Amino acid sequence: MIPDFAPSPIAILSALPQEQRGLIELLHMPRKVNHANRDFWLGDLHGQPVVLALSKIGKVAAATTTTALIERFGVRRIVFTGVAGGLGAGVEVGDVVVATDFVQHDLDASPLYPRYELPLYGRTRIACDIFLSDLLFEASCAALASESLGIHRFCNARVHRGLIASGDRFVCGAEESRRLLGLMAQAGHDVQAVEMEGAAVAQVCLDYGVPFAVMRTISDRADDSAPFDFPSFVEKVASPYAQNIIEAFLNLLSKK
Ligand code: ADE
Repeated sequence: MIPDFAPSPIAILSALPQEQRGLIELLHMPRKVNHANRDFWLGDLHGQPVVLALSKIGKVAAATTTTALIERFGVRRIVFTGVAGGLGAGVEVGDVVVATDFVQHDLDASPLYPRYELPLYGRTRIACDIFLSDLLFEASCAALASESLGIHRFCNARVHRGLIASGDRFVCGAEESRRLLGLMAQAGHDVQAVEMEGAAVAQVCLDYGVPFAVMRTISDRADDSAPFDFPSFVEKVASPYAQNIIEAFLNLLSKK
């Protein structure tokens, strides 16, 4: 447990070790704490006290990490960086989506509750914190425009804002992603990207009243080539993106 007088650190949550590695290397006075079968890295990053953590993959793992960050490490703000499959028209590989809100595409307690509704929450979507998301959007635009991304920079990369759908499934088929997009649209959800953790982080943050924001680099189009695009993309593109965006984000935050 961190002492009451210490400033509350901000959590930087990554889905995969490759995305986190660069951040650990930049950490000042790093301290590793193992808890709940996970490594948490405490230290200062670009002048801010932070805790770096891995969500691991899938909603349950992400919920465990998020709960531990709040309960054990006392974080009061969470920023998530990771990759996602692009579903929305014009959401292409190399683009970034900053989430406005989340829905679980695999949640279905019908006929007891409408499809996609969170039982006993009286809602289907969970909104991200507007202040943190605005900052993350600004940081993403600045990082993508920056020369410091070097060879990892995609020339025409765009930053989008919109709804992200999460589920315990890697979506990798043109037919499957078309179907998913159609079903969600029928229910009134205009999904931009799909991934496997964000909605779980959102639900835990809602339960604890902790503000959070999420950015996802688009690694694939959730189509038949998604599994082949994914691993090298994470290493070569998503990691430098995440590093640059987090640096810009923490710098912007320090000026507020
Ligand atoms: N993360 C990155 N690409 C994904 C996809 N196609 N489906 C689910 N999660 C993803």
